[in-house]
Amino acid sequence: MRALHAMLCAAAVLVLQSPAWALAQGATDGPKRWGPTENVSLNGGRVDSLFWIITALVGVSFLIVLLMLFVTVLRDRARPGVKARYDHGSSLHDKRFTATVSVIVFLVLDASVLWITMHDLRETVWAFPEQDPQTLRVEVLGQQWAWNFRTPGVDGQFGTADDVVSINHLHVPQGRPVIVHGSSKDVIHSLFVPDMRIKRDFNPGAINAVWFQAEKPGDYEILCAELCGFAHYQMHGTLTVVPQESWDAWQAEASTIAQATYDETDTEARWAWDWKE
Ligand code: CUA
Repeated sequence: MRALHAMLCAAAVLVLQSPAWALAQGATDGPKRWGPTENVSLNGGRVDSLFWIITALVGVSFLIVLLMLFVTVLRDRARPGVKARYDHGSSLHDKRFTATVSVIVFLVLDASVLWITMHDLRETVWAFPEQDPQTLRVEVLGQQWAWNFRTPGVDGQFGTADDVVSINHLHVPQGRPVIVHGSSKDVIHSLFVPDMRIKRDFNPGAINAVWFQAEKPGDYEILCAELCGFAHYQMHGTLTVVPQESWDAWQAEASTIAQATYDETDTEARWAWDWKE
């Protein structure tokens, strides 16, 4: 009876926590988010579908286990005139059953997810569009607690006077691949752009790469997803995606201003590195 009681309590918690969570979400400003934000990147759909596949697989497995628990608890419980039935699961039959279930769970859950993941990694995440003439290259330097972004000016070279450097704001054209190379000045930071479905750690002394392609104009949140100290929560910025023509105009202007205000003596601002594919 105690087991049944515990299970009913667990079910009640599961059922009640959803409205509680919804209320908590309602208490904060901004849109209510029951799931991931809208995907606005070229390959983000792969992340979403993997997310839902895993959720469905784990959800179904969970329901099967719950169902088996309910059936056995009800069937084998003590009743007036009937003694509770139980065993230790130590017979050969039980061991074989356990082994079979483990193999099935591994094949259906882990192996299939691994297969899809490797496929996505090869086809998108690791397939950097380096040969694409449309690709925009960006260098990022994380620091406690801000993101420094750098795009080459009209000369297309990093580390020159017309580089467009900004803090916590990245401007990219819509529909063009963007390769981001990043490092850190101090501790590990993680560049996270939820709407683009990308997240990449940037470590001091190393350069890591990630790429995305924004398909919809707008302002999107850039976050740091690695606890990097006391003001980690303040380390966020904006990704602005605009149509190509607006971006061209913006870049020409920003690059001209950068060149005009370039300070040869400001060594702090000269953190660019040579781009290596
Ligand atoms: Cu940088 Cu958290």
